[in-house]
Amino acid sequence: MKNRTIWNTGTILVAIFSIAITGCMQTETIEIEREMEGPEYTHAVAILQPTEGFEASGTVYFTKVEEGVNVTAEITGLSEGNKGFHIHQYGDCTAANGTSAGGHFNPDEMDHAGPDDAMRHMGDMGNIVADADGNATIDYVDGTININMILGRGVIVHNGEDDLTSQPSGAAGPRVACGVIGVAAATE
Ligand code: CU
Ligand code: ZN
Repeated sequence: MKNRTIWNTGTILVAIFSIAITGCMQTETIEIEREMEGPEYTHAVAILQPTEGFEASGTVYFTKVEEGVNVTAEITGLSEGNKGFHIHQYGDCTAANGTSAGGHFNPDEMDHAGPDDAMRHMGDMGNIVADADGNATIDYVDGTININMILGRGVIVHNGEDDLTSQPSGAAGPRVACGVIGVAAATE
């Protein structure tokens, strides 16, 4: 059982990790307090463009909901299969191969993992699954992403599967699409 509690008000960044082992059940509680100033953004969007030699493109939306952030995306031009899907540190898609976006966005200095893990990179959105026609969609609620913190950073889609285990980035292969996360209009 894993819990993650984040307070978006208060003082300096404090991270508390506690692990309690009761019998055979392990409980992990992660408490993260963040300093937030200014408006809280609730909607963000990234337009993904293909990197050199690939055809992948699409749109990713981030929408604040009660339980976290609803991530939805539609991507086309992929090869069939699971494709690593991450927020990277920089909103810089200038390099032809997308490496200018840096590594996974990881403000809490954790290891690479999957979207359902309590201890993970904030950017770890796992995989997006492309069908035989190369089309992929995703729609899930992420309990870790903070919209204010991902603005101006990058979204990367990879050519291979994120194994959710390999460090530092899941061994997902080349970057096939890159986009920058921007503020979007609030929609009802
Ligand atoms: Cu990535
Ligand atoms: Zn990661």
